[in-house]
Order: sequence, then structure tokens, then C-alpha cells
Amino acid sequence: MPEEVIRMEGITKEFPGVRALSDAKFSLDTGEVHALVGENGAGKSTLMKVLTGVYSKDSGKIFLEGREVEFHNVKEAQNAGVIMIHQELNLMNHLSVAENIFIGREFRKNKVFLDKKTQNEEAAKLFEKLHVKIDPGEKVGNLTVAQQQMVEIAKALSFDIKVLIMDEPTASLTDNEIDDLFDVIRMLRKEGKSIIHISHRLEELKLIADRITVMRDSKYIDTVDAKGVTIDGLIKMMVGREIFVEKQKELKKKNLEPTLEVEHLNAGPLVQDISFKAYAGEILGFAGLVGAGRTETARAIFGADPHSSGRIAIHGKEQKIHSPADAVKAGIAYLSEDRKRYGVALGLDVETNISMANLQNMSEFGFIKFKECAANADKQLGDLAIKTPSVKQLVKFLSGGNQQKVVLAKWLTKDAEIIIFDEPTRGIDVGAKSEIYKLMNMLAQQGKTIIVISSELPEIMRCCHRVLVMCEGRLTGEVTGKEIEQDIIMRFATQRDVKESKVWKS
Ligand SMILES: Nc1ncnc2c1ncn2[C@@H]1O[C@H](COP(=O)(O)OP(=O)(O)OP(=O)(O)O)[C@@H](O)[C@H]1O
Ligand SMILES: [Mg+2]
Repeated sequence: MPEEVIRMEGITKEFPGVRALSDAKFSLDTGEVHALVGENGAGKSTLMKVLTGVYSKDSGKIFLEGREVEFHNVKEAQNAGVIMIHQELNLMNHLSVAENIFIGREFRKNKVFLDKKTQNEEAAKLFEKLHVKIDPGEKVGNLTVAQQQMVEIAKALSFDIKVLIMDEPTASLTDNEIDDLFDVIRMLRKEGKSIIHISHRLEELKLIADRITVMRDSKYIDTVDAKGVTIDGLIKMMVGREIFVEKQKELKKKNLEPTLEVEHLNAGPLVQDISFKAYAGEILGFAGLVGAGRTETARAIFGADPHSSGRIAIHGKEQKIHSPADAVKAGIAYLSEDRKRYGVALGLDVETNISMANLQNMSEFGFIKFKECAANADKQLGDLAIKTPSVKQLVKFLSGGNQQKVVLAKWLTKDAEIIIFDEPTRGIDVGAKSEIYKLMNMLAQQGKTIIVISSELPEIMRCCHRVLVMCEGRLTGEVTGKEIEQDIIMRFATQRDVKESKVWKS
């Protein structure tokens, strides 16, 4: 019998108006990788925060190596070797990478002077272990989200770990980075460390986990052997029902005039000579590996980044887009992949967040029509199944996936004709994913033009009428209808030679 390192039982936790955990339990063996899954708001993060002393529990017991423990804060948990990497990154943007890693535990010469050199060297060693190239002296604010995630992981590794908890560590990593991370997890397991891994990417869990525990609605459902369970079986346990999404049929274009025309758009190395058209009622996908330039293209169209040349026209009329405000005025909405940086105001309530993008329409003579804001927010809560006790709840108290839905709601409130969704379902559970697909379909049927950027091929294959593929800043292929298949898309996504590629010209 493997030794049990963590046991939690009868854990209950209530927040005002929300029961986050009811009689929840969890156990972890030494040297085990144990995945924790469940829909958004199921209570996964809360359970782990109770374990690591971020929250106190209302009732229940926690044992570490057989002894009952209660950590009153994160530091106590860290000292006992129980370390958690949080879902929302917690780094200081103005500090360097190494300073973030060793914050509060700085290296000093003669116990007084800051020893930056040693600190940077120690940080570099951690990155070497992780096989990533990040300069320890770089400011964290200059890093990509994926790199910041790696800094969090490096920081965790800098402690003496007994139990490592990763709350959706792979949500913003590329496939290669995930492979590296999994190598690190396997290495830690070999060293006898125990790992709790929270993720919505069920396929990857089967690769790395020994056991999987499922939670639903604040409760423990079951713990199963990762090898013995099917993805469908897991989904059924998570949502209590079966989920089925039909593949998109080919679109019969009613109107041959495109809504959006982009011609020879150039914006840095990742946006090179991009030309395409998008139509009303169409869901157009952008596929490609991470770093192919899809987000950069979207940002250039939206005016979030400048473009050096090219033409953007809506209904045949050229639009001068130099800022997001220009784009919004022209009828374009962009749902960013990085919700914390661009998407929601964590300190404001749900209703204000949802109304924010659309205050002009909800005010009269400068007065905000509060009733309308509230009614609209209520409707969005229902449409998107956002889990919150009320529209007055601060967004920071919502679970990660529900925050993402608030970003969606915010932009849906805006009456945009062209909506660009950038990784819309990242961190969102399977049930809510299918709701979001339905919603995109509904919007398309209303005549809107939908552009979807996604790194999850199954998602692209399910949702889109047509798919454009990018590789290294260029469009390398276009597929429609039956051609929307994994191997065809992957071929274009890795095709560096543009001359051989099949770019659609119409
Ligand atoms: N500090 C808080 N104050 C009030 N409510 C909270 C707080 N933290 C979490 N909740 C609520 O508790 C419930 C469980 O949230 P939790 O973050 O544990 O979900 P989760 O399973 O991690 O979901 P996700 O997959 O979306 O990250 C949710 O309804 C959430 O809104
Ligand atoms: Mg969570």
C-alpha cells in the first residue's frame, strides 16, 4: 500500500450566499499524480485553498502524513512543503523574474546586501530544470502569459516540495511547453513528491495522472483510476449528463458581399501579408500552432497593435482603425485570450463588468439607466449559466471559468457585427463549452460574423464553417466542409513554405 501524504475529509466551506464545499474529501498518496476535475465553480480551487491555508474551513479534517494539521496561512503550508500554483497568476509585473521567484527570501551578502548575481544564477538553474529560456533579469511584465506561468512553476520548484498543487497550469501553455511541464511532473514523481493537478483538458490528464477525483456542485463525486476511465465517462461524472455537439454543416452564403475584408495586412513578424474575407452568418476559424500569429492578427485588426500596411474594410467601406475605440465604433468586438489583463475588472461587481462595454447605450443624458443594466446582466447570467449568488458579487470572488464567462457577457452586450473570440473556452468546463458553442451559433444565425481563434483543434473542427490556417505569421491554408480534418489542418499549420500552401483567394 502506498503511503498517504494528504487526507481531507468532511470539508465544508461557505462564502456569503455560496456553499463552495459541502462534505468534500480528497486523498493523495506519496509519489502520486492525482488530478482533480469538475465544472467551473465545482469547488476545486477552493478545496485546494483550504488545504494550503488561503481559506479557513468551516468544518472537516486535514491530515498530513497521518497527523492532523491546519495551516493558517500560505507560509505555514509552504514550510510544511505544501505548495500551490494558483490559477490566476500572482506575479509582480514591475519586478524581475528572479525577484519574483525569491520574493521575501532574497539572497543576501553578509545578510545585508542584496546578492542579485546569486539570485539570478539560482533562478537560471530552475529554468534549466524546466528546459525553458527565460532571462532571470527580465521584468515579469514583459513576459507572455505562458512565460509567466513558467515563472510561477519555477518559483514553486524553488521551495522544498512535499506536495505540489497546480491549478490549471497548462491553460495557457503550448503543446511543447506542456510536454516539458509533464517531464518535470514525472521527474518530481520519481523523486517521491506528490502532485495534485487541476485541469479542464481531460485528454492530457489521462497522460499524466495516476488517479482522478471528480467534484460536482461543491461535492465529492468519485475517485477513479486514470487508466480505467474513458473521457466520456469522466464528462458524465462531471456534469451529470451527456454532452453532444454536432459538427458544423457547410454554410450556404446568403449574401455574397463579405462583412469584413482584410487585405495585405502587415504588423510585425507575426502578421505578414494577411488577406481574407469573412461573411455574415459565418463562423470562421483561425487555426495554427501557438505563436503562429493568430492573436497578433486579431489585435492588429482590432487596433490593439498598430499595423504597418494593409486595408481593412467593413461592408466594402475602408475603415481607418488605429485603436480599439475605432474598431468598436466600426462594429468589431474582440474577446481577448488574457482575461486578467484585458478582460475583467476584478474589483467591480458582475453587473458593472457586463455593462461597462456598453454604457453609451445604457445611459440617457449622461445618467446610467441602472434598471436596464441590471435586467441585461440578469439575462446574461441565465444565457451563459454564470454561477454567482447575484449580479452584485465582485468578479474576483467568482471561479476562474465564471470570470471568463463574464468577459463573454460583457462583449455580447455590445452590439457588434463582427466578434472575434480569442481562445473563448480556455479554462472553461465541458458543459459550459457546449453552451458557448451554442451561443456562437446563435450569434451567427442572427447574421453576425464570428471569428474564432483556438488552439484546440477539436473545438475548431466542431464550430467552424471554414478554417484559415496560419504558420509563422502567414496564412498557409484554407479548409472548408469535409476538409476540416485534423491532419489537413496540421499539415498547413506546420507548412513553412507559403508557395506550396493552399491559400484561398476569392
Ligand atoms: N472568495 C470567495 N468569495 C465568494 N465566493 C467564492 C470565493 N471563492 C470561490 N467562491 C465561489 O465558490 C464556488 C467554487 O469556486 P471555485 O473557485 O472553487 O471553483 P472551481 O472548481 O475552481 O472552478 P473553475 O474551474 O472555474 O476554476 C463558486 O461558486 C465561486 O463563485
Ligand atoms: Mg478554479
